This record gives sequence, structure tokens and C-alpha cells, in this order.
Amino acid sequence: MKGQKACCIWLTGLSGAGKSTIAELLEVLLKREGRHTYILDGDNVRANLNSDLGFSIEDREENIRRMAAVAHLMVDAGLVVIVACIAPLRRQREKARLLFESEQFFEIFVDAPIELCESRDTKGLYRRAREGLIANFTGIDSPYEKPEEPDVRIDTGLSTPGESALQVFKKIQGYLL
Ligand code: ADX
Repeated sequence: MKGQKACCIWLTGLSGAGKSTIAELLEVLLKREGRHTYILDGDNVRANLNSDLGFSIEDREENIRRMAAVAHLMVDAGLVVIVACIAPLRRQREKARLLFESEQFFEIFVDAPIELCESRDTKGLYRRAREGLIANFTGIDSPYEKPEEPDVRIDTGLSTPGESALQVFKKIQGYLL
């Protein structure tokens, strides 16, 4: 009925790397082609479904488990789901991947050096983390493991958000046909 193949496009990267911006621009490109999409953003889902969770390793595990489970349900319902979520550890992303058929899951590494994210500091969180007001901040006192073999690596130093979204779009276009 939807005339599309569903999939999960998971954008991982540091806070402030540009995941949400790229997710929104990617959604515009997909909608232009008539695709039915949904964005699951860590910040938004943490405001409701995951509002009981913080940023300890255990809470992040549970946050990511639920994000992946919801994404999986949405893929089952036929949507192209874009997840924008740090998911800092490789094993968390691997667990998420395992819920899906292998060709249905795309890991996109939004690669931005921490210095760049920190200099932008769009939400003022890096400053607060440096002042010791926020604990367990990814990249400061909580780890981020870079994907070793992502389906797409976006070099945010080289590409604009629009170019980055197009890079992801081109990667998944072959699958969606
Ligand atoms: S994850 O690590 O569990 O995958 P998620 O993507 O859901 O994280 O949420 C990250 C968002 O929460 C960040 O973009 C930022 O706005 C906010 N945030 C608040 N505290 C932290 C923290 N300690 N570490 C990282 N992000 C934080």
C-alpha cells in the first residue's frame, strides 16, 4: 500500500554533531519522493517515553534499546525511520542493528570533532559539562566509540548539512527502489 521498502537509518555521533539537522533535511528529500517517514530524535523521545532515564551507561543502554524497539515497530508498519541518537557504544548500535533484517539498517556516522561540537555548543551543554554541572557527558567524561564500518561516514568539516543529507539519501536510494 505504501509503495516503499521500510528501513531504519540510524544517525550516530556526538551531541551537537548535526544529527537532528541532517535528519530533518534527509526527511525533506525522502518526502519529496513520496516516502512515508518518521524521525525518532533522542531529545524528543527522552521528553516523554524515556523521561525516566538519565545518562549513566545503564540508562543509555535502556534508552537505546527502547529507541531501537520503537524504530523496529515503525519499520514493521512500513515507515522509513530516521533515528537521531548518540548511541555512544558499538555494542549498543550492534544490538539495535540485530533487530532488523541486515539490509534494512543503515548506520550513519555523523563525524564531527569534539572541538567543533564544543565551539558551536548550541544548547550550552558543553559549557555546563566543563563547569561540572552535568556529569557523564558524551566525549567529556563519558565515552564515544566511533563506528568502525559505518554505511556512511559524514565528514561535517567537509560537507554542509544539505550535502550530508544528500549523501545519505543517495546511499539508501538503491534500497528504497
Ligand atoms: S544516548 O547516549 O542515550 O544515545 P540521546 O541521543 O538519547 O543519548 O540524547 C542525547 C541528547 O541529550 C544530547 O543531544 C543532549 O541534548 C542531551 N544531553 C543531556 N545530558 C547529556 C549527557 N550527559 N550526555 C550526552 N547528551 C546529553
